[in-house]
Amino acid sequence: MKTLILKTPSFETLIRIGEGLVDRLDSQLGTLHESVLLADKALPSSLIEHVAMAASCTDVVRIGVGESEKTLRTYERIVTYLSDRRYSPATTLVALGGGSLGDIAGFVAATYARGIKYIYVPTTLLAMADASVGGKTALNVRHRKNIIGAFHQAEDVFIDPTLVKTLPPREIASGMAEIVKAALIGDARLYAGIRDDNPSLEALIAGALRVKIPIVEADPFDRGRRRLLNYGHTLAHALETYHEGRYSHGQCVASGMLHMARGLPFEHELSAVFARYDIDTDIPYDPETLFELVTHDKKRRGDTLDIALVETIGKGFVKTIPFHEFKTFLKGWDKT
Ligand code: GLY
Repeated sequence: MKTLILKTPSFETLIRIGEGLVDRLDSQLGTLHESVLLADKALPSSLIEHVAMAASCTDVVRIGVGESEKTLRTYERIVTYLSDRRYSPATTLVALGGGSLGDIAGFVAATYARGIKYIYVPTTLLAMADASVGGKTALNVRHRKNIIGAFHQAEDVFIDPTLVKTLPPREIASGMAEIVKAALIGDARLYAGIRDDNPSLEALIAGALRVKIPIVEADPFDRGRRRLLNYGHTLAHALETYHEGRYSHGQCVASGMLHMARGLPFEHELSAVFARYDIDTDIPYDPETLFELVTHDKKRRGDTLDIALVETIGKGFVKTIPFHEFKTFLKGWDKT
């Protein structure tokens, strides 16, 4: 088992990563006095019941997941459930699911009774390699992604890579895209590991989190350096909104990264990695409409936008550009 710690002056998250960790969850968790499990209803009942038992949960709330469920309605349903049952500020929320469940659970934990403790057991590669760590929580408004949110860190994250073995390829691709992102912005050796014939998922997840943790520690509230973690994401979020979820997050992130890499020496190499992991990055769009969607990006500050760029594999940086310059990254508006 690998243990990583994310530590800032105001919080600390203990991240444990290990094959079969979920089977040993009860011995890792200690005693929780009052806890509720929020679980993805599509997960096997045996897994949900096992985690509920290990975390001594008195209630299990099962919800549908996906971007379409990250709504104020879902949020209201959960907090109403908790308050109807008189759950106190001492309650721990245990989240079991992928990134969208984590976004909802984190927002509930950030706001119920002005903030309660939460523990996250991610079940998708994307959530394991990125979303479960760093405290970003979010709800969508209409189809606009992550318009409402708060920063609220999980106290413990338990990552068991065996849980992803039954995931559909689309889900694995989403996680791989985030691992590639981490390697591109911060770790050339991790990138080489991704290219290995049979890389260990545990090592890739730990590698991606080792890139992410110091960035979040330096900028927990996403004011500057953390924007590096958004490599490819400004475009990805716009593409997700444009296609209303028809393309996976991973595909959109991969496509967004390739747009940012256009004309750079590693562009073809990056394309080859996505092809190897069966990530189809060919997502059509009308550039004018996509640019209009980019104007909703949270990294926009008036007439400028903070974007993440990669100079060479493993070396990323954040740059503030005039907003209109972003057009040069879209097909149809040439760089020259
Ligand atoms: N997923 C990017 C971040 O946590 O900032």
